[in-house]
Amino acid sequence: MHRTLSRRSLLKNLALATLALPLPLSTLAQPKVTKNPFALGVASGSATHDSLVLWTRLHDEGLFGSNLPNAVIPVIWELAADEGFTQMVQSGVANAVPALAHSLHVELSGLPSDQWFHYRFRINEFTSPTGRTRTFATPGKSSAALRIAFASCQNFELGYFNSYPHLVREKPDLVLFLGDYIYEYPPGQKGVRNHSGSWCLSLEDYRARYAQYRQDVQLQQLHACCPWLVTWDDHEVQNDYAGLQAGSGGPYSDFAKRRAGAYQAFYEHMPLRASVLVEGLAGLEKGAEMRIYNSVSIGGLLSISLLDTRQYRAPQACTPGNKTGSGVIDPKQCELLSSEGRSLLGTQQEQWLDTQLGKAKEQVWTLLAQSTLFGARVYRTGDGVRVWNDGWDGYPAARRRLTDLLVKHQVPNPVILGGDVHENWVGYVKEDYSSLNSRSIGVEFCGTSVSSYDGRNPDSALRNNSHFVYAEGSRKGYGIMEVSSSELIVHLRAVKDHRTPESVIENLASFKVVAGTQRLERLAVS
Ligand SMILES: [Fe+2]
Repeated sequence: MHRTLSRRSLLKNLALATLALPLPLSTLAQPKVTKNPFALGVASGSATHDSLVLWTRLHDEGLFGSNLPNAVIPVIWELAADEGFTQMVQSGVANAVPALAHSLHVELSGLPSDQWFHYRFRINEFTSPTGRTRTFATPGKSSAALRIAFASCQNFELGYFNSYPHLVREKPDLVLFLGDYIYEYPPGQKGVRNHSGSWCLSLEDYRARYAQYRQDVQLQQLHACCPWLVTWDDHEVQNDYAGLQAGSGGPYSDFAKRRAGAYQAFYEHMPLRASVLVEGLAGLEKGAEMRIYNSVSIGGLLSISLLDTRQYRAPQACTPGNKTGSGVIDPKQCELLSSEGRSLLGTQQEQWLDTQLGKAKEQVWTLLAQSTLFGARVYRTGDGVRVWNDGWDGYPAARRRLTDLLVKHQVPNPVILGGDVHENWVGYVKEDYSSLNSRSIGVEFCGTSVSSYDGRNPDSALRNNSHFVYAEGSRKGYGIMEVSSSELIVHLRAVKDHRTPESVIENLASFKVVAGTQRLERLAVS
């Protein structure tokens, strides 16, 4: 059992995070911390032009918890303009509480815009690794070009996160993580290393799984190099789950309880604001939402709407065998598939997105960062077509409502980012995917996995879905965008071998979109 924390006391604890130092450390009542408690590294995220979240979780050893006292532990945090911490910008003391697995989410505000910072945490003689983070340009103001990375599907067993050291060297300004940060599976996928424990079912299981992933040094270094914005897909809870309906795989569990534990562990391990827990931790246990969808505007350059395609979705339609979860289906045999009432984002999020896209003209680029392939991908068979019902192909009315919003608001340069399918796909966003002659209204980049299962051979699907211009299904890595007010360039990077601790990286393909054209141009550069 874990103790619950009311929203009021959660906020009270967070308020303590802003307690200004000048208290000498020796005056703080320090519970006994005798080993380095910063084994999980540091992170930052949820950055705007004047605010961000600093994260760490105290954890002194092992994968299944730690020897930390079951008590509130005060931690000093410091944000400085320089690596030597001589030019302090803000500092204070935050409380790591057992109810949140001694995780810390220090929410800073009133920061200077468009600047890089260094940050660290301290307890007694222990100092955390130093992280770098930044604020962005004030909305409406000019912004220098930015390098924004996107990645998804980190399966710890099936590979190393060996593309990340290369990404760190590319000096990204922001990492967008688009889902499947952990996998809930037990050990035994015959990969290169083993998951700890068994199936993730309880809060403690998920905490242990995150602790294992976060002890990966390559992942720690990517977190430490710049802020992240994170959304999730299914494996943060269970394969193929849909809202409050269980997915598939593993032993039976009380799914609402399992989801609440998984969501809490996600909060505990990500640089998120406390406001995502709209009804506090107690609310999560009662099935309240965890509102991770949000948006950020960066200068006049771009807005990013980070979407949640899992929490509010209708169950997948017509999965064979009356099973829960996903399947490949014949759309002609599934009346439910195109029902207007089915949503992938949920009504409230669709309405929120309508409002966000109404402001799209304030920026050059509009990024929609979400977890899966957006464009239609039909597989031709002898007797018609088949679609996979877990992605947007399983929710055609919802997809049409989203493209209708892009048209309604005349969004100048929409760019949809996705993951989930473990394949790189590049293509045009169509106004209406059911019509071959429909016009293009934006571009899409769906990234491959960092280390998870291989995708399918996409060659025939690429031929049969002409709005896509590129697909590749066997390589692992990430995408990185260079975004300026005049153009957007995307490089798709892949390691040679994700099954070795280190590997060289290659550039699979690069594309350019000149602002205002919505045209994909393949570049011949590395
Ligand atoms: Fe995945």
